[in-house]
Amino acid sequence: MKVSIQNAKAFLSEKNLSAILPEIVSAKETLVSGKGEGNEFLGWVNLPTEVSDEVLNTIKSDVSRLAPKSDIFVVIGIGGSYLGARAVIEALQSEFAAFAPDRSHPYIIYAGHTLSEDYYHQLLELLDSKDYSVAVISKSGTTTEPAVAFRIIKDHLEKKYGKPEASNRIIAITDAHKGALLDIAKREGYRTYIIPDNVGGRFSVLTPVGLVPIAMAGFDITRLLDGAKQMREICLSKNSYEENPALLYAAARNLLYRQGLKVEILENYVPHLKYISEWWKQLYGESEGKDGKGILPHSLSFTTDLHSMGQYVQEGERLMFETVLSLEKPQHRVAIPIDEQDLDGINYLTNKSLTEVNHCAEQGTTLAHNEGRVPVLQIAIPRIDEFVLGELIYFFEFACGVSGYTLGVNPFNQPGVEAYKKNMFKLLGKPGYNNK
Ligand code: PA5
Repeated sequence: MKVSIQNAKAFLSEKNLSAILPEIVSAKETLVSGKGEGNEFLGWVNLPTEVSDEVLNTIKSDVSRLAPKSDIFVVIGIGGSYLGARAVIEALQSEFAAFAPDRSHPYIIYAGHTLSEDYYHQLLELLDSKDYSVAVISKSGTTTEPAVAFRIIKDHLEKKYGKPEASNRIIAITDAHKGALLDIAKREGYRTYIIPDNVGGRFSVLTPVGLVPIAMAGFDITRLLDGAKQMREICLSKNSYEENPALLYAAARNLLYRQGLKVEILENYVPHLKYISEWWKQLYGESEGKDGKGILPHSLSFTTDLHSMGQYVQEGERLMFETVLSLEKPQHRVAIPIDEQDLDGINYLTNKSLTEVNHCAEQGTTLAHNEGRVPVLQIAIPRIDEFVLGELIYFFEFACGVSGYTLGVNPFNQPGVEAYKKNMFKLLGKPGYNNK
């Protein structure tokens, strides 16, 4: 993968990039040396080389055990406990995977990320007629949304299969030492995986939090880790923009932010990458949005959103820069057929592949947005597969740590996410929150 600032040159001079490099390298040293704020949550830095064979083998044996008897695998989790898995799975699987006739692996469905009553009603209706298994994922083991979802789904599973078989079909992924989920898992004898103490939710995709669902969906988690390993090597060892894409990305976004561009829009041109953006928004939003600072991460899917938000980006208030996640090669070719009558007037596109058209849309959009004074960064990935996604995940995580320290915040805490919970607990009458 490659980062290009070619279409942001008007905002990123060589002089400014050189001037900020010492700050960027120093932020990287702070991260790597573990001397910065939040250093108790740096376990993700070495994860690609530290996931043990024992864990990988246990995951593989769980897949062999549960996949043949599960049409559906329900992943219960919220925020960092589900977005990474979903990002990888949705990038790799067919857009129409739910309709695949002869599946060798279960179709993944998500729960615990919403409190919508209709969502659970509809999910339970579906689960009535399907065989399924479950992973319940919560680092704290006490988050309300997944706890509520798990109680509902556990009850359904036990009624459907009886308690012993239901317990065989449940995997718990949680803290090693504490939390209600750990207590339940121990009492009921569930297969349990540990989320390391020193890895925060949004950095946990390469722990069992992401690896179990991704493997269950039929994807190669060893290749995912290999890609992350390769990017880790680059990120840790290189100190120049040419050799280390994470440093270039961190420098570019901080320089743009300092010029008053406070919104970053991550864009894709293929719907498979939509959940990479959702994962990325949490990673950057939770890491940098604090102390009254931080770039607001936003995302758009093109060309779809060119027909809705394109107008704002082109001519609205100048407060954003764009980062295009650009896919070089699709897996398949679909060419545009000829039509003798050419009533739709698109015969000039005959025999072109859709990717040729899509790349022209991307170049044309970049040019237009540049003319509208929006700088455009590009992160180019050669293809979508496990290895490349592993590289991309590690790249974004490392750049996030460097960028956060450059911004002057602790990128590894999230004190703000507690505020809504206190109010909700008070309204619900949770013991200990009902101060009159
Ligand atoms: O990044 C984070 O820390 C959060 O998004 C958490 O992942 C999310 O709140 C879920 O927490 P838990 O895994 O403890 O249920």
